[in-house]
Amino acid sequence: MSLQKMTTKKIIEKKQKGEKIVTITSYDYSMAKIVDDSNIDLILIGDTLSMVMLGHQNTLPVTMDEMIHHTKAVSRAVKNALIVGDMPFLSYKVNIVEAVKNAGRFIQEGGAEAVKVEGGTEICPTIRAMIDADIEVMGHIGLTPQAIYRFGGFMVQGKTIEAAKKLIMDAINLQETGVFSIVLETIPWQIAKLITSAVDIPTIGIGAGPYCDGQILVIHDMLGIFTDFKPKFVKHFGNVGESIRNALKGYREEVEKGIYPGLEHSYEFPQNEVDDVNEWFEKVDINEEALKLNKMIPK
Ligand code: KIV
Repeated sequence: MSLQKMTTKKIIEKKQKGEKIVTITSYDYSMAKIVDDSNIDLILIGDTLSMVMLGHQNTLPVTMDEMIHHTKAVSRAVKNALIVGDMPFLSYKVNIVEAVKNAGRFIQEGGAEAVKVEGGTEICPTIRAMIDADIEVMGHIGLTPQAIYRFGGFMVQGKTIEAAKKLIMDAINLQETGVFSIVLETIPWQIAKLITSAVDIPTIGIGAGPYCDGQILVIHDMLGIFTDFKPKFVKHFGNVGESIRNALKGYREEVEKGIYPGLEHSYEFPQNEVDDVNEWFEKVDINEEALKLNKMIPK
């Protein structure tokens, strides 16, 4: 089925029509193709690739070049969903010029159609500069994993009255600056609900309860592939990790027993010439023949 290409404008219209927005992360061509065929609205090449693809402890080590490499792979696969590249740690908070250039790399080199940045009111001037350069931006507030050392770990954010008020004001300032949507990560559902009613742009929740305009999950979490730890908000919609283990067990067993590959998985030599090859193989000294061939290669 060929769907219509999703745009930031259509994402906003979905909120206006009261339609939920379904989004997910992807990091490679084959997975992104399956996701794109599954009527998903938005694919984020998340900096979580640092953990689920590269095996780091958190999202801080992943670099711009690594993010661009994976964004290119995803954008080669995607025809329908909106493609959003996640700006990694230090790529947009050192200075505004660097931030705009790095955001531009996601679009120009990676093939993304928008970028996502973590932060509230304090990041608005940087977002404004990106939008002035015609780059669409998605916000991200709450538990912003690039700040885990400041938070002291992966903890629920917005749990005090002051912190909740700050999140609501951040969301409004992000909207005023021009972001097309805001990720709300790991905050109490009551605060996510207030934010969702306070802004006209869609909120996309992850660990932010059922009242957001849309949801996002890390694909390796919801498929049961990444099992190093499981936050409360993660639901396994499949057990793909177990399927992969079973498939590998079957492969190992069949190779060891000589069951796989059978002739049905093998290529046929032309029937009328196979006797000639066999006869040659029996007759000549193959080591000598190989030596003769080797001597013909210019050294
Ligand atoms: O990097 C990521 O995957 C994200 C989502 C969890 C929102 O930022």
